[in-house]
Amino acid sequence: MMSGAPVARFSLTDHHGHKVSEADYSGSFLLIYFGFTHCRVVCPRSLAKLSCALDRLGNSADRITPLYVTVDPARDTPEVMRAYLEASYPKFIGLTGSQEQIDAAKKAFRVFAERKADPQDPDGYAVPHSAISYLMGPDGSYCDHFTDAVEEDKIAERISNALTRERNVEHG
Ligand code: NI
Repeated sequence: MMSGAPVARFSLTDHHGHKVSEADYSGSFLLIYFGFTHCRVVCPRSLAKLSCALDRLGNSADRITPLYVTVDPARDTPEVMRAYLEASYPKFIGLTGSQEQIDAAKKAFRVFAERKADPQDPDGYAVPHSAISYLMGPDGSYCDHFTDAVEEDKIAERISNALTRERNVEHG
């Protein structure tokens, strides 16, 4: 499943309203994180950390497309995701879709997320989710993943190593 098979793991809509699938990002590394824009703690922390890790990579980060896939498509329309990301995490492209499309993407990356009641949320619910980010190679192969516990400098180092490995494969 995560072994580089040329099967699209997602078919979604980006935050500009364009239909996209994994193939549209072929040739770029992907840093993929799942969450929802109403998330109060986990997403802001993860998205800030990943953004800082990418900053540390300097120009090398141009080889990576950071993607934020919603697990709350009912609220996270392309417009909502665009406003959220452009305001705070502008490196990321938001992806949303139908519940069915989101469920397929979650399954492909083994992401757990389930809606539950949350009295602190204005709409009365939250969608607790796995806080793992995935680094995929330009050919769609799995490179690495980072749990919530991995620090920013370690993430930057491991991404940098993956970029170097890929260069070595390319150029012999
Ligand atoms: Ni979250």
